[in-house]
Amino acid sequence: MKIRRCAVLYVESREDLAIDWQAILSGRNALAGATRWVALAPHLDRELDVGADDLPALGGISQSVWRARAELERRYGADSIERLLEQGLLIADTPEYASARERDDTLRAIHWRPLSALAHTFGRWREVSAVVTTEGESFQEMLNSFGEPPPPTLELNEEGALKLPAAVRGPLDETLFLRYTGRNYDTAASLPLAVAARLLQRTFGAQELRQIGPHASVLKKTSPSGGALHPVEAFVLAQRVDGVEPGLYHYHPIAHELRPVRTMPQDEAAALAASMLGDQAWLAGAAMQVILVGRTERSFWKYRNHQKAYRALALDAGHLSQTFYLLAAEAGLPAFITAAINDADIEQQLGLDHLKHAVIAMCGCGKAAAGTRHMVELRYGETDAGPA
Ligand SMILES: Cc1cc2nc3c(=O)[nH]c(=O)nc-3n(C[C@H](O)[C@H](O)[C@H](O)COP(=O)(O)O)c2cc1C
Repeated sequence: MKIRRCAVLYVESREDLAIDWQAILSGRNALAGATRWVALAPHLDRELDVGADDLPALGGISQSVWRARAELERRYGADSIERLLEQGLLIADTPEYASARERDDTLRAIHWRPLSALAHTFGRWREVSAVVTTEGESFQEMLNSFGEPPPPTLELNEEGALKLPAAVRGPLDETLFLRYTGRNYDTAASLPLAVAARLLQRTFGAQELRQIGPHASVLKKTSPSGGALHPVEAFVLAQRVDGVEPGLYHYHPIAHELRPVRTMPQDEAAALAASMLGDQAWLAGAAMQVILVGRTERSFWKYRNHQKAYRALALDAGHLSQTFYLLAAEAGLPAFITAAINDADIEQQLGLDHLKHAVIAMCGCGKAAAGTRHMVELRYGETDAGPA
């Protein structure tokens, strides 16, 4: 058997702080800190405790060159080698350990920057409720807990500041000033198919296809994209879109088609939206949700092992989101974006591999509930409320 270390590994000294009640009672320091070694390896997708006895093998075994098991056992001890193979931190060339090897090979083939692969893998959520994190807290509660926030703007040298002329009005103003994040959607209203189709086509659709080689092309969209690669694509969770069976779809940016992943009853789609959005019911009520997924293979084809590639992927998603917001505003609809999503659960729903497909954010839109800030009337001539 030949062995090498997994491609990407970070070993963290983690401190677990706990209140030592025994110490409190005897008047000693009440905080007890215990440290342990935690191995973070993106191909395994879970944190692993490692013993200090196994650190020499993890630090000493090459991640590139295969070595005979017997040789490594002599050097680091058979027990260490066995434990690390079982954990998947050492990779072997035998069928017994094929699953760790397959994941490690996938990671190597995609050219992830190691720290980006770690940040992405271990920043994902499973079954998290965002309602219990700061997102659910009011500004007053945060002020009470954290004190005053830093000022709203950067205050550098005021001396010699050049006062600029007031912005002149422009045709984009109307849409820009209508844009807002909706948090109170009408859960009875559906999205007209034409509105959904325009939103998807003008945000995520290809406006142009440019051949850059016999079997290679880039797309032009209404948003810019790092490297002209447009690696971020849209999956749609349709809850109430006229003429679309509720369910999960991939939006094909060239064919301009919703290609089904799985259709489902409407109440199931509503529950799925809520769980994907970490229980943010105020966003789950929107008629249509869009999951922004970065195709790392396409991005990292150009940006191999690149420090900025993962950042560019997130920026691409941000640009698409603003375009989506503006198109929604133009249609008289509020929209939203959130990164507080259960991305690991979303991958499972969509059958995606987190190393190849980075779920980045979710956006969505729908008609605002009556009595709230409401823009539909402005565009569609409805009468029950006016614009804010
Ligand atoms: C990256 C990003 C993440 C966001 N996450 C959330 C979120 O988790 N929940 C939410 O209700 N709004 C979220 N928002 C919306 C912001 O809260 C919103 O943009 C902000 O309150 C300003 O309001 P406006 O968009 O109406 O101008 C997010 C916005 C951005 C750009």
